[in-house]
Amino acid sequence: MSRPTTPTVPPQWSRPRELAFQILADSRQGAYVNLALSKALAGSSLTGADRRWVTELVSGAARHLGSLDAIIEAAAGRSLTSLQPAVVDVLRLGAQQLLYMRVATHAAIDQSVELARHRIGQRVTGLVNAVLRRVAVQGLSDWLDQLSVGLSTDQQLALRTSHPLWIVQAYRQVLPASEVEPALLANNQSPVPTLVVRPGLLERAALLALAGGEPTPYSPWGVIRAGDPGEVAAIQAGLAGVQDEGSQLMAGLLDLVDAPDLPWLDLCAGPGGKTALMTGLAQKRRQSVVGAELHQHRARLVVDALRGYGVAPVVVADGRIPAWNSAFGRVLVDAPCSGLGALRRRPEARWRKQEADLGDLCLLQRALIDQALDSVPPGGVVAYVTCSPHRRETVDQVAAVEASGRAEVLDAPSLWPQVEQATALDDRRCLQLWPHRHGTDAMFAAVLRRQ
Ligand SMILES: C[S@@+](CC[C@H](N)C(=O)[O-])C[C@H]1O[C@@H](n2cnc3c(N)ncnc32)[C@H](O)[C@@H]1O
Repeated sequence: MSRPTTPTVPPQWSRPRELAFQILADSRQGAYVNLALSKALAGSSLTGADRRWVTELVSGAARHLGSLDAIIEAAAGRSLTSLQPAVVDVLRLGAQQLLYMRVATHAAIDQSVELARHRIGQRVTGLVNAVLRRVAVQGLSDWLDQLSVGLSTDQQLALRTSHPLWIVQAYRQVLPASEVEPALLANNQSPVPTLVVRPGLLERAALLALAGGEPTPYSPWGVIRAGDPGEVAAIQAGLAGVQDEGSQLMAGLLDLVDAPDLPWLDLCAGPGGKTALMTGLAQKRRQSVVGAELHQHRARLVVDALRGYGVAPVVVADGRIPAWNSAFGRVLVDAPCSGLGALRRRPEARWRKQEADLGDLCLLQRALIDQALDSVPPGGVVAYVTCSPHRRETVDQVAAVEASGRAEVLDAPSLWPQVEQATALDDRRCLQLWPHRHGTDAMFAAVLRRQ
């Protein structure tokens, strides 16, 4: 007799709050919320509105961790470290519904208590019920006002925008005072997916006709389109991809400068979005692009991004140690960085990053810039790009390279003249984009010409 088959997805996963609870638990073990969410949704029977609701619930709870925890601690009258981590997860999900989503109070509390009973045990239901009732006694702005008493301006901003204090302070160094709060708040909005055509393979007008959406305001290759990009046939066929508009502008920089007519190099290529766009642009100049990437699994993603072009000049290599002997005319260093400019994409990221990580990152970035300059002849051009606006990873690096006498800093903002307000605060030759100004990630670029 054959045994009944076990369903691969537990039935309770089809219930939104259970699914959100599981994702927060996975996130505590190190999973990325976005990836865990897509995997869980793919295996669930949830439909449209429920999927959007779970996404808002779990992404919001991960993003608002700082403010939610401060409110829960005040309501509970005890430190969260004295509670079982799973109970904290239930409380965060409940408080997210009560304070940041339009969920009726009784539904948010009753369902959270049920969740706690089912996933943790009867013994914790009284505590969950009592704490969430206290959270519900006032709205978000009253809680924030109450908890702001006695805090410094930056501590208040950290609480209100739900960011670690060091990130607030880092933003303050690179933005006019009036823009710090809008910039931080912009990190709490999930971006609408942006598609990009592969130049030479598909025109933007054709992608718009095929998939719908709106043209991006600045990039000539982009389309803003709500919905699942995986369903777009042109993406499946390798004729288009998914790429933030800011990244598109960065990848296009090297095509906008004069440089020796030699092959191009993408020194930190994985997962390959910029390599693909650069390949289309270089091919129009009858040049090729070599992609170098340290990690094999990410190099494979570069090969996949290039599949529409039918070429795969990708090397697995440490960009600090040349695996090539040819000279390149143009080199992109899209360096590993803190990622402080892409926080809206990764809900939990701000709570995982540490200021102490910057030291090693900055050393790596500088070594990669030096190697890139070694890879071009005099007159060759290097674009140094980060998805971080942090001073130490951006204008400070550029100042150090300039002081070494190895490179001249070109006027990068003038290469994209249609993008207004795109200069870095402390070095007007550098390009700095912002979500609250441009609707892009906070990408930084300096364009360096080897002396
Ligand atoms: C910011 S990402 C690049 C994103 C990519 N340019 C794109 O647009 O798809 C930085 C990449 O550099 C790679 N990396 C880190 N250290 C490296 C090194 N020493 N040499 C080459 N690549 C490195 C990382 O694995 C990561 O894939």
